[in-house]
Amino acid sequence: ANRTPLIAGNWKLNLDHLQAIALVQKLAWTLQDGKHDHAAVEVAVFPPFTDLRSVQTLISAERFELRFGAQDVSEHESGAHTGEISASMLAKLECSYVIVGHSERRQDHAESDAIVGRKAAAALRHGIVPIVCVGETADDLEQHGASAVPVQQLRDVLAELPATGEIVVAYEPVWAIGSGKAATADQAQQVCQALRQVVAEVRGDEAAAATRILYGGSVKSGNIAGFMREPDVDGALVGGASLDATEFAAISRFQ
Ligand code: G3H
Repeated sequence: ANRTPLIAGNWKLNLDHLQAIALVQKLAWTLQDGKHDHAAVEVAVFPPFTDLRSVQTLISAERFELRFGAQDVSEHESGAHTGEISASMLAKLECSYVIVGHSERRQDHAESDAIVGRKAAAALRHGIVPIVCVGETADDLEQHGASAVPVQQLRDVLAELPATGEIVVAYEPVWAIGSGKAATADQAQQVCQALRQVVAEVRGDEAAAATRILYGGSVKSGNIAGFMREPDVDGALVGGASLDATEFAAISRFQ
């Protein structure tokens, strides 16, 4: 299939404003020095909300080919929802993507699949591609195997979405996040293949063949190549290793 790989860097709750700007600049320069072909491998960063305006200004002023997005979005369009940020606000900031349903949001903010689905739907209404995160905990893995929980999560999220509109799926086993203990390439492939099957059932074979499915969880330059060799892994959602420009640029060239 002809899917452009996506390497996405989720900064989570890290860096102050100046560090964020410096990281974008250093990353863009490092990619340029390495003659990174952005048409061949898309690279995107996901800073905290408070950095997005400055990141957008820098990227557009310097004509960097980096993409960017937000780490979360409200399911609501506007109104009495204190503390929320809408998809239309993100669209006006030229966000290409928004992460929805990250396991940290599911755990810390009790986000259900229905909420995650409505957030993804809000993104789609404003032309932003949602990166829908799914993944099993260590307990789930022990009790149900690797794919049962992420497969059900994706089914329940897709149930909230229109039948068309580009989405990206990110498979992140919770036990692999920030633990230094990544899944094996083979484990990632098994689950990503099962997730692609879900997309095929719900949205059809053509959509399934076009949908990018990422692996996330302790990805670094030393293990990215193995994941990228798998037929159903189309990129990575990178946390810790995305905070270092040199390391993240290395991941973006799969080495
Ligand atoms: O969104 C990113 C993931 O949670 C992975 O984080 O690369 O620090 O394990 P990590």
